[in-house]
Amino acid sequence: MTKSITLRRPDDWHLHLRDGAMLQGILPETSRDFARAIIMPNLVPPVVTGADAQAYRDRILAALPEGDQFEPLMTLYLTEGTDPEDLAAAAASGLIKAVKLYPAGATTNSHGGVRDFDKVRGVLEKMAEIGLPLCMHGEVVDHDVDIFDREAVFIDKVLEPIRRATPGLPVVMEHITTKNGVDYVRSAEKDLAATITTHHLVINRNHILVGGIKPHYYCLPVAKREEHRLALREAATSGDARFFLGTDSAPHIDALKEHACGCAGCFTATNTMSILAHVFEEDGALDRLENFTSLNGPAYYRLPVNDGTLTLVKGEEPVVYPAKIETGAGPVTVFDPGYPLYWRVA
Ligand code: DOR
Ligand code: ZN
Repeated sequence: MTKSITLRRPDDWHLHLRDGAMLQGILPETSRDFARAIIMPNLVPPVVTGADAQAYRDRILAALPEGDQFEPLMTLYLTEGTDPEDLAAAAASGLIKAVKLYPAGATTNSHGGVRDFDKVRGVLEKMAEIGLPLCMHGEVVDHDVDIFDREAVFIDKVLEPIRRATPGLPVVMEHITTKNGVDYVRSAEKDLAATITTHHLVINRNHILVGGIKPHYYCLPVAKREEHRLALREAATSGDARFFLGTDSAPHIDALKEHACGCAGCFTATNTMSILAHVFEEDGALDRLENFTSLNGPAYYRLPVNDGTLTLVKGEEPVVYPAKIETGAGPVTVFDPGYPLYWRVA
């Protein structure tokens, strides 16, 4: 029996596209299915000013396959030197849709991020005034905090104080990985939402470590215990408008993943919609998939939903996805959910 479901065309509210040959190689994996994406600014060097964002946007559009309709929603990388006026001008022109906060040292190319949160107070106040969302990488970086606890500690030590000190600042907790994150978002009546990745709905920390270390399942924040994965599944499939898809699809070439000091990131752009249909069907929530992928994000970002649609069809035979995407920068392994996928984008 063939089943199908048609959704408003989805958006990805957290995506790494990189630059150059990597951008060229992986952009089609997103623009095939997604209408828009929030583009992470952690390039080397990072996207810090409005001018940087404009130039990066132009490079993304130049790399877009002919005929694909895709709008990159640009972000700035918050530094202790960010100029609130430059940021406000980039927001007013419509160029940027959010600002990304990386605690310095938390993840890939975050060394230029924020060390002293008092130094960005002026910028955060300006953002609250103009209603520009702050996307947070929610992990503390203290050496004495266990890596599996870094999100929960961030909520108490950083996020709650910032939110209390900056009323009206719209915050997106990016890629939440814990029940603590889910509960914290649910405790807020306004100005707080969270993105959830595809891979965190599928893997827990056993997938990374049992039976040998699996570098392609390593990302940050790292996947946690099963109880946390189940809390994320419940939040994503609940239809609650405060939770929406941000894949955090983060390509690194295989040589840098399969390495003594492997990079963090799961590359899920290629098969995300197929995996999500599987997950939502498994949880009896296919009717809420559209909320998660296509409706909740635009509502929070105060953008219109997309005009187009995307149809997913469930076939009799598993869909074959490439194991790797060959890019000019090198091969990138596609995330393997560990089970066959029967849903494909029509
Ligand atoms: O796994 C991750 N990869 N987490 C991040 O926060 C950054 C990302 C990347 O840029 O590779
Ligand atoms: Zn990311």
